[in-house]
Amino acid sequence: MNNDDEKTTDDATTGTTTPGLGKKDAAAEADETGTTTEAGDENGSTDTPFTERVAVVHGDRVEVVDLHKSFGSNDVLKGIDLTIANGEVIAIIGPSGSGKSTLLRCLNRLEEVTSGHVYVDGEDITEKGVNLDSIRQRIGMVFQHFNLFPHMTVLQNVTLAPVELGKLSRTAANERGRELLSRVGLAEKAAARPAQLSGGQKQRVAIARALAMDPEIMLFDEATSALDPEMVGEVLQVIRDLAKSGMTMALVTHEMGFAREVADRVIFMAEGVVVEQGDPRELFANPKEHRTQDFLSKVL
Ligand SMILES: Nc1ncnc2c1ncn2[C@@H]1O[C@H](COP(=O)(O)OP(=O)(O)O)[C@@H](O)[C@H]1O
Ligand SMILES: [Mg+2]
Repeated sequence: MNNDDEKTTDDATTGTTTPGLGKKDAAAEADETGTTTEAGDENGSTDTPFTERVAVVHGDRVEVVDLHKSFGSNDVLKGIDLTIANGEVIAIIGPSGSGKSTLLRCLNRLEEVTSGHVYVDGEDITEKGVNLDSIRQRIGMVFQHFNLFPHMTVLQNVTLAPVELGKLSRTAANERGRELLSRVGLAEKAAARPAQLSGGQKQRVAIARALAMDPEIMLFDEATSALDPEMVGEVLQVIRDLAKSGMTMALVTHEMGFAREVADRVIFMAEGVVVEQGDPRELFANPKEHRTQDFLSKVL
């Protein structure tokens, strides 16, 4: 089906976000805004309780406003406006080079924006004085390449950041780490080294590592693109479970079937702009814009 052989790029863009090894506690208060996965089928009927509406109105975890990003004279993002609601899963698709990774990286300040704003729970994270460790604790990221530390065990990889950042005691981190490893199906690999794991297992460890910081939002940048085909499914299953658990997520993916299945909304980007977005079934079946049609005709 999709023989997307253009996996040439990106290898250089895989900084690790194991949230900086500063200190800082950043008591990321658990915002219990109730899960408002609005199904969109409630079109303003008057019997919706008022409180629910308020939750929907204030439901955006992420708001991107007129975001521009240039590298030298290369204008990569040319005015992106985007929201991600609480508990929402968005899939970002589009041709290679369209700025998908750059956009994700701007959402947790792995890149400085050139202009525009990114609000996370109302806080503008593009401002000078923001605490980067705190941002990256709240927004976990998983890359195509997992960047595990080879000399550490799986459990040590998972517990490193929360312990270094003073978020959890060693004992608590180990307990939480084991819990997360079992959640990604790797309980029995706690003492293994990354070299003893398959690609799919390594990526599941990387997901557990990101979850160890208790993020409120998770970003996935082509998390399955570097995997052998037979390992894609096990990683998608972990992402699917996370989506079901109500995690707010943005997925950049080449897996169109997965995007259609898991995402609440699909965003099609090309040449640094959001060309079209909408309900996955609708967008895949009935793309309105010429560039979307053209792209989908190549990948579906
Ligand atoms: N750190 C960087 N320095 C210079 N150019 C970059 C950097 N990161 C990305 N780019 C450029 O930005 C453009 C978009 O890249 P990227 O966001 O990786 O696209 P995508 O993820 O959609 O394939 C490309 O032209 C790429 O070369
Ligand atoms: Mg990319």
